[in-house]
Amino acid sequence: MLRLPFQAQVEITDVCNLRCKHCYHFDTDNMPASNDLSDDAVLQVIRKMIDNRIYSLVITGGEPLARPKTLIRAAELAKTAGMYVSVNTNLLLLTPQIISALKESDIDSFLVSCPASEPDIYREITRLGDYDKFTQKLRMLLDANFSCLVNMVVTQTNFPLIRSTARDLKKMGVKRFSVTPACLNVEHPDLDGLLSKKQTIVLLEDLRWCADVLGLEVDTLVALPKCFFPVWWWERSSPLLKYRTCQAGRMTVNISNIGDVRPCPHNPIVYGNLFKESMESIWDKMAVYRNNGTVPGICKSCAAVESCRGACRTNAMAVTGRLDEPDRLTIGPVNFFEKKRRNVIFNENSIVNFRGKLRWRNEFDGYYSVTSKRGGGNLMVVNEEMFRFICWMEKSLPLTIKELTKNIAGDSAIKSFIRIFEAVIRKEFVSIS
Ligand SMILES: C[S@@+](CC[C@H](N)C(=O)[O-])C[C@H]1O[C@@H](n2cnc3c(N)ncnc32)[C@H](O)[C@@H]1O
Ligand code: SF4
Ligand code: SF4
Repeated sequence: MLRLPFQAQVEITDVCNLRCKHCYHFDTDNMPASNDLSDDAVLQVIRKMIDNRIYSLVITGGEPLARPKTLIRAAELAKTAGMYVSVNTNLLLLTPQIISALKESDIDSFLVSCPASEPDIYREITRLGDYDKFTQKLRMLLDANFSCLVNMVVTQTNFPLIRSTARDLKKMGVKRFSVTPACLNVEHPDLDGLLSKKQTIVLLEDLRWCADVLGLEVDTLVALPKCFFPVWWWERSSPLLKYRTCQAGRMTVNISNIGDVRPCPHNPIVYGNLFKESMESIWDKMAVYRNNGTVPGICKSCAAVESCRGACRTNAMAVTGRLDEPDRLTIGPVNFFEKKRRNVIFNENSIVNFRGKLRWRNEFDGYYSVTSKRGGGNLMVVNEEMFRFICWMEKSLPLTIKELTKNIAGDSAIKSFIRIFEAVIRKEFVSIS
């Protein structure tokens, strides 16, 4: 368990240039007057994240490009401190100046919203957006070689357009595409816009088509119940999204434009304000998300519960008013859920290399979190012994297995080495050649 979040999503503004009908953040029929913090206060929030050794920062909004100077300064500050930095944006306010400043600060990735490639539907959904302008801005981003994932939030309005949108984006050079069934805005739920169960299955089929026919790397940004996935999904050699779990309050937090801390962008429950309380004490108050307190009763006997935890808890709350009620797509407990495993094969002449750059943080007594991937994808919490071993490997590799094991004597020491070593290979801290 983590003493502090792994990732913070910071809303640097509540201003937005669009009025998307599906937005889970705002009631876009009645946008509030902005109450943004000053630039200095936003930078203070970022400094607090750095001081807390939070690994990853998502700069979001509202629309972060509506506040370009703040965005650029926040990105520079976080990148200089070694954080992984990504930006969520609808792209329409992008300029060559912003692109070059963000290139300079070396930010890691963009999550770009695009609800349809059909101009009339794009306009109907975003109300103030222009698809041609969107494509110009996307071209600028792709030409600048930024890593980008394009996200299509799906409601009844754009449900038939998933494949055509994917095809058009692919033609432009997009490689990563996520199709996300709209989550409910808890305070202004639009139940009529939601996809039915049947339509959500069709969405999964479309996603499979995007991967298999277009060769796109696909994703969906909401955790769906594992029991909802159809049989064909499980039979794929590498099932898509199999391990996606809701990380709200477990790994991630959301910080509003006034410093209020919530578990995720669409969960309205505020657990504290960063200008009045420390991140650690606010995180403590979110323990219910980490100690299974939000897992629905029906899920407790399920073989997939550890990986699923009942799926998106905020969606459940939007429909039922409670965080521990089942998701509306839940079918019921499954008997079998295969854990992520990779076979590890090596011999004494295999060469072991360290992968990436180690980042770490002290967690609870004698425990550390460690990651060597830029985005933190292989984060794990380890004890002191394992921590020292990983630090030593970063300094000492490459070595052969023979060299690595030359000072290990006795059956039990060798067995314990193999166990630890297999774990670091599976987590991709090292590779074998
Ligand atoms: C709230 S927006 C803020 C950043 C920026 N304005 C944008 O739209 O990209 C952050 C992300 O949430 C997604 N989003 C908005 N409403 C959603 C909903 N109802 N369900 C799922 N995702 C949603 C957007 O597509 C975007 O990727
Ligand atoms: S652009 Fe983003 S923040 Fe603005 S209304 Fe659309 S989803 Fe919401
Ligand atoms: S029963 Fe609950 S924990 Fe199991 S797969 Fe379904 S939603 Fe997830």
